[in-house]
Amino acid sequence: MALLSDISWEAFQALSPDAKVPYFRDADREQHVIVAQQFDRARLDALGDLATRIRRIAKTHAGMDDLQSLLSHKRAMLYFSQPSTRTFLSFCAACEILGLKLGEVRDTSISSEFKGETQDDSIRTFSSYFDLIIMRSQIGGLAERSAWLLSNSERPIPVINAGSGKDQHPTQALLDIYTLQRSFETNGGIDGKRVVFVGDLKRGRTVRSLSVLLTQYRDVEQCFVAPDALQIGEDIQAILRARGVRFSLSDDLRAELPAADAVYMTRVQNEWDTTSGESARIDISAFCFGEAELPLLKPSAVILHPLPRREEIATAVDHSPHAVYWRQMRNGMWIRAALIATLFRKDNPIREYFESNGIE
Ligand code: NCD
Repeated sequence: MALLSDISWEAFQALSPDAKVPYFRDADREQHVIVAQQFDRARLDALGDLATRIRRIAKTHAGMDDLQSLLSHKRAMLYFSQPSTRTFLSFCAACEILGLKLGEVRDTSISSEFKGETQDDSIRTFSSYFDLIIMRSQIGGLAERSAWLLSNSERPIPVINAGSGKDQHPTQALLDIYTLQRSFETNGGIDGKRVVFVGDLKRGRTVRSLSVLLTQYRDVEQCFVAPDALQIGEDIQAILRARGVRFSLSDDLRAELPAADAVYMTRVQNEWDTTSGESARIDISAFCFGEAELPLLKPSAVILHPLPRREEIATAVDHSPHAVYWRQMRNGMWIRAALIATLFRKDNPIREYFESNGIE
């Protein structure tokens, strides 16, 4: 078994993304959640199934009481040094569903980082008081570093990456997959579908993580629709090629819509501009979805968006049965609860409660 405590930071850093994956796992489950590459098809199916059971159990008072007793002896730290609404709140809600107590640092200008404390020392400090760290940072790779650091400390508690730089956002991809699983439940599942990604695919970490997760499904075709300057990275294209996934690049949204089963819209990530006004100079008007685009979709097609949105989806589209982005957001709470329950080995007790109480 590969253990983070057996490898130096330098040697670990030198590994390829795929070679790092075994280090984030214990014998049979995740120890840390850092990259989308960790999740194979069996794990995705199990998490989706568990999320649905939690969702159904939570409908009754007795069921919610049972869920809340599962991890009432644990505490979670939310370390979010980058803006967040949905990810932060859905993680809070997921923890509360399972009874975890919460702590948070969101503004490092009022934590000891302001006094010059390193992020490494901050992380070790959090681990003294908490049993789980959920973290978002503008620094790519910080979640990975924190996982390595804690695995080499006396309190090797799990780390969940809630968004790291421009790189990865694995739990967003999990909720996107759960939304697709539910959307295609009566339509053959995710296998064989065509997913069209639109917008800032270069800097959108949710797209990068979801693209990787979709490779776990059979015959899923991926199409990336973006202006040249915002097109999907070479590294993701290399992963798709290596895994034999059919994909295409396009700059014509309207031409791609009729064959789409799912359209994944994203906003321009201008916070990553390296020169002032760089994003503003890119014309994205042809990469926006309005009422005029709705008739181009198949009846069964769904529109997703990780949110927040700007002008890329008109609010008039919200009322269309194709629009699932509000449901997608709520799915985040259930799949994150399923993920945390699994990390703490509470998946089987939840399944047993579901079976023994005849919940439908
Ligand atoms: C995304 C993110 O932070 O990467 N937001 C989210 O977590 N739902 C997408 C974005 O900010 O555009």
